[in-house]
Amino acid sequence: MKKIFPVYLRVPIIFFAVFLAMEYFIDSGDRPAFVKYPMISVFLVVFLFLLIAIELVVAAVDNVTYHLLTDEQRKQLEEANEIKITDSKLFQKIKKWFVKESQPIETESDILLSHDYDGIKELDNDLPPWWTKLFYACIVFSFIYLAKYHIFGHDDQAKEFETEMAEAKLAVEEYKKTAKDLIDAETVTLLTDAGDIAAGKAVFEANCVACHRPDAGGAIGPNLTDDHWILGGGIKNVFHTITEGGRDGKGMVAWKGTLKPSEIQQVASYVLSLQGSNPKDPKPAEGEIWVEENAPKAADTKTEEAKTVAQN
Ligand code: HEC
Repeated sequence: MKKIFPVYLRVPIIFFAVFLAMEYFIDSGDRPAFVKYPMISVFLVVFLFLLIAIELVVAAVDNVTYHLLTDEQRKQLEEANEIKITDSKLFQKIKKWFVKESQPIETESDILLSHDYDGIKELDNDLPPWWTKLFYACIVFSFIYLAKYHIFGHDDQAKEFETEMAEAKLAVEEYKKTAKDLIDAETVTLLTDAGDIAAGKAVFEANCVACHRPDAGGAIGPNLTDDHWILGGGIKNVFHTITEGGRDGKGMVAWKGTLKPSEIQQVASYVLSLQGSNPKDPKPAEGEIWVEENAPKAADTKTEEAKTVAQN
């Protein structure tokens, strides 16, 4: 023992084994046991202390006994210490279980098979024991497998995959409900809830009024209440413009570094709620009249015309 595990390995190994056993057997929920129960930490420290103390005592006793030995006994002890672990009986037994010495070259003719192909001959060696044992283990395993999955109908991989996918899908849906900031310009939807519009208004007043005016009638930035859009109307385009900014050098910065996607969605929805609010002295319309793609075209253009007429 002493030879295989010198003291600098023995102490950590024993300590770690005890530590793992405690973690394994003591139910401490999602926190490690030694964090949850301070007594365990105390115990571990005392245990480590004892381990080291025992090692010290054993070493001291060994030392003393060595000095008390006669020369004859010392020789014996040194010889005993020189025996290698590979010479021990247990080791030999375990080794035999896995490997078999090959036939000595002198007696090879005993197991030589009779055939001879252009001088190439074959020895009838036994298969290595580790190989045959593994083979038998596979056969036993196959019966267990067969019984478990094909007789008792335990879930197979396909079934496990389906259940896990179903669970994951639920988890994703659950997550999406709470993660409002997963939206982008493709998935964004127009918010109409009064609370969201009010939140959007607050964002607008804090960040946008300097250029778009408190009533969004336009100053440095364009009028946001008319149906003309430079960069495209509709929630998706407006969300995109606010997130990524306007054309270079025009003054409209990208707000994605400042505002969260959920806030951009709110302010975009607020801006769109101001459509047709006709503020006083608006900035002249810029850009194109925006027609919602999936809206019925004819009806829409008519109302657009009506609005333009009304504005002029
Ligand atoms: C520094 C001035 C400034 C600030 C602050 C500003 N904008 Fe702008 N905004 C502009 C300018 C200038 C444009 C025109 C960009 C262009 O022509 O490419 C613009 C364009 C827009 C457009 C597109 C209009 C169109 O016709 O397509 C929207 C929507 C918009 N801003 C919303 C906002 C919102 C919401 C905020 C606050 C989070 C904001 N802006 C803050 C200057 C500003």
